[in-house]
Amino acid sequence: MTRIAIVEGDGIGREVIPVAARALRMLRPDWEQVPVELGLERWRRTGTALDESDLRVLRGSDAVLFGAVSSAPDGEYPSVVLALRRALDLYANIRPVLGGDADLVVVRENSEGLYAGRERVEADRACTERVITRSATERIARLACRLAARRRHLTIGHKANVLAADRFFLGIARGVAAAEGVPVGDAFIDALCLDVLRRPGRYDVILVENMFGDILSDVAAFHVGGLGLLPSANLGDGHALFEPVHGSAPDIAGRGIANPTAALRSAAMLLEHLGDVASARRLDAALGDVMARGVRTPDLGGTATTREFGEAVLAALEEKE
Ligand code: NAI
Ligand code: MG
Repeated sequence: MTRIAIVEGDGIGREVIPVAARALRMLRPDWEQVPVELGLERWRRTGTALDESDLRVLRGSDAVLFGAVSSAPDGEYPSVVLALRRALDLYANIRPVLGGDADLVVVRENSEGLYAGRERVEADRACTERVITRSATERIARLACRLAARRRHLTIGHKANVLAADRFFLGIARGVAAAEGVPVGDAFIDALCLDVLRRPGRYDVILVENMFGDILSDVAAFHVGGLGLLPSANLGDGHALFEPVHGSAPDIAGRGIANPTAALRSAAMLLEHLGDVASARRLDAALGDVMARGVRTPDLGGTATTREFGEAVLAALEEKE
């Protein structure tokens, strides 16, 4: 039986993931859902944010639907998100941006760069090492090329005019694109951030290293009306985790007004990844219907609560049966 691990996490993760889990249950009543508690709330209650038995459950599932976790207030425990990416070897972060004039996908290297964890803090100096390896660059470039081959073309974002590590990244990624016969261009990451805002139609699949991808995908989110709408996939060769791009949003958590769209779209990506394209399309179409009817949460200028928006999507799904 297909088994989905459901991780609500913290803050609005506990509000938006239940909506997405209900939609999944409605579309795939035959799939088992296994709840896993991770994050700050769990740490406050039990002194542990994530342990080996959680990882066993996640590794044993066919896919993970993940909300968001709040980072530890004073770094009391290591990042749960980074630990998960490492433990499940989720080396690719895929962020589709569909809205306004944008129809593009940011492919972000997820395992190294500035987030490789090589840091030293001394009395008067702090240093974070940015690691780019050939093997990690080749595997992310291959994944980006596979995606670009099904779509239109590839753009590599970088800062090769200044950073040696980026000349290395660009050279390897270009080589992979040439070998795979994918049309490829490249752009400086700073100019690219502005151009993605001004001329999104020029971009299709954008390949970037870890931190550039983190920033670029939030910038590109402008085209879809904000973080509450952006889904993502974290993929490895053996595991897959789907999550909204947004975090736990402590500023609005507990008020029942978070937009569950990013979580619902993440569930649609999960369905598609597991081969149920029909259900994924049904969920996307239901979301489209609800938006067309003008149902909006406050982040988009509306008055609907998370629950009301969720009910509207579930009702639209029922109509599509
Ligand atoms: P955030 O994404 O949680 O919030 C940024 C802004 O967007 C806030 O004003 C928030 O209210 C709004 N927002 C986000 N999602 C929304 C939604 N679904 N509906 C309506 N408004 C929404 O980012 P922030 O504030 O930088 O981080 C908050 C916490 O989340 C931190 O502890 C951070 O470490 C964590 N975080 C966790 C992530 C994860 O688990 N993958 C990713 C990003 C942040
Ligand atoms: Mg971010």
